[in-house]
Amino acid sequence: DLSPIDKAKFAAARRAVDLIEDGMRVGMGTGSTAAWMVRCLGERVREEGLRLQGVPTSTRTADLARQVGIDVVSLDEAKWLDITIDGADEFDPELNLIKGGGGALLQEKIVATASDQMVVITDASKEVHHLGGFPLPVEVIPFGWQTSRALIEELLESMDVLGRQTTLRLNGSQPYVTDEGNYIVDLHLNRIGNARQLALVLNQVPGVVENGLFIDICDMVIIGGSDGKVEIRD
Ligand code: A5P
Repeated sequence: DLSPIDKAKFAAARRAVDLIEDGMRVGMGTGSTAAWMVRCLGERVREEGLRLQGVPTSTRTADLARQVGIDVVSLDEAKWLDITIDGADEFDPELNLIKGGGGALLQEKIVATASDQMVVITDASKEVHHLGGFPLPVEVIPFGWQTSRALIEELLESMDVLGRQTTLRLNGSQPYVTDEGNYIVDLHLNRIGNARQLALVLNQVPGVVENGLFIDICDMVIIGGSDGKVEIRD
């Protein structure tokens, strides 16, 4: 029996998978909501013989997709995608997002950007007026990461944000390492005044590979309810 939150995630995932048509190239996100989507997609592949190519955004998602019978290809093999379906950590009224709570923001942003359409699946808890309550993940290369972090903190001094704390993401007592071999610095901003500007300037810091702000990338948000109903924002 599913918990109310899983029922909500499942409802959103199932509706999103209805958007998939035979022959599509599909970007597959990372996280617990995206995992429901991968399972639903696998069910359609097995039951309807749906032919599709799936591009995963993490090794976790790749493993699950193969388990459920999806043909997994790399982004370079697929070249361009019809649609990407992914979760998010926050979305605002403009459908801008914070992602990367699961640590896969770099691949997620590349895959979403290489898609005709990005659909976010979520429960109502991720909806916010202003982004920033969720810590903003920034992926940095390990070389000189403390310098990159100091430069980020200096940059935040001049930005319209409420909080300016930063933390290195850990896995036990060691730095968390992304699929691409990088570290993640989480920015505890509480409220981001100008997300568009912040997204641009963060990527100017030497050593920063990418940040978790998805601006003008998402086209549709499907919000699942624990009653199985969905609400669509686009
Ligand atoms: C992964 O890096 C994130 O961007 C996820 O999309 C996010 O953490 C959502 O995960 P849940 O669906 O588990 O909340």
